[in-house]
Amino acid sequence: GEFITVKELAEKMKKSPAEVIKKLMMLGVMATINQEIDADTATIVAQEFGFEVEVKVEQDAETLYMQEPEDDPADLQPRPCVVTVMGHVDHGKTSLLDAIRETNVTATEAGGITQHIGAYQVEHNNKKITFLDTPGHEAFTAMRARGAKVTDIAILVVAADDGVMPQTVEAINHAKAAGVPIIVAINKIDRPDANPERVKQQLTEYGLVAEEWGGDTIMVPVSAKTRQGLEDLLEMILLVAEMLELKANPNRPARGTVIEAELDKGRGPVATVLVQNGTLSVGDNLVAGTTWARVRAMMDYKGRRVKKATPSMPVEVLGFSEVPYAGDQFFVVPDEKTARQIAEKRASRKREEEFRAAMPRVSLEDLFNQ
Ligand code: GTP
Ligand code: MG
Repeated sequence: GEFITVKELAEKMKKSPAEVIKKLMMLGVMATINQEIDADTATIVAQEFGFEVEVKVEQDAETLYMQEPEDDPADLQPRPCVVTVMGHVDHGKTSLLDAIRETNVTATEAGGITQHIGAYQVEHNNKKITFLDTPGHEAFTAMRARGAKVTDIAILVVAADDGVMPQTVEAINHAKAAGVPIIVAINKIDRPDANPERVKQQLTEYGLVAEEWGGDTIMVPVSAKTRQGLEDLLEMILLVAEMLELKANPNRPARGTVIEAELDKGRGPVATVLVQNGTLSVGDNLVAGTTWARVRAMMDYKGRRVKKATPSMPVEVLGFSEVPYAGDQFFVVPDEKTARQIAEKRASRKREEEFRAAMPRVSLEDLFNQ
């Protein structure tokens, strides 16, 4: 339905907000000046004041820019796949990511990566792969809870010595619920007690049947320690990515998701964002959750300054008004004023909701029965 704030309704009728609030109270609705009331309630109030009401839907800036206009298929171009690593604690998620990264770091860049950034890209056979370094499914769950779909492929890491564990099962469920294809990396095969066949056996119980067993799940034996199988794993990721035919339109205002964010002492709010469509440029204005930013500077995963970020590229963004939340979706708007307005409107709406949730509920009956 449609909504209007008490203040806006009062302005339209040239009444004071207090008069409107009083009328609302008489109708049994407790409202504050910035609260949004629905069209039906607003109609009744206006009629009480002797107005005739016509509900017209005004498309506000937020709805206008939040909506993702469909891309013309002709404008779409291939984009790198985005991969998340999941699995049970200590099964080697971080080690695997580190090993993959090192494999692809050229000699000249050796030791260059010191800072932590929640996402990075590697190149294999001239194709880029974006890895989200959010090991553990908690971050994944938080993102999903916020409606963010960032991952194209999930890598399920299962230690060959340990086998399927509770968090392995949780990870499988999360990936399935998100509708994301799973590639299994059977890790630690260098260990003398490794038993990859047992892992495959266990996974069949959760509907993941290895290709060599007649199923359709790709399972790659790997070792983060000896690097065995890492090339195969990257091959398989690219194979699956190719089948997904991932595309985006780089020639439009950017939108995407905040991967992580923090308050940096020197630099202020800093957010790592993943561009999912369009191109993000320095100087762009964007809204993310209840915050906004005028993009002051962007850094790629190696900390190099970049002026533009294309689809599937993770970048660190400076210029946020406040620290956004991981999972907040962002979209670019034409100017700073619009960005600020939308963010402020959202922030005040959120405050209202929190305020209302905290307010004790008292009905008229309660008052009379005391
Ligand atoms: P959490 O982030 O705590 O969930 O763990 P993780 O899944 O990221 O595991 P991590 O990479 O921290 O590895 C856990 C332990 O397993 C470390 O001691 C690693 O050195 C070891 N490890 C990881 N991969 C391998 C492997 O391929 N072979 C052997 N032998 N040890 C490994
Ligand atoms: Mg880890």
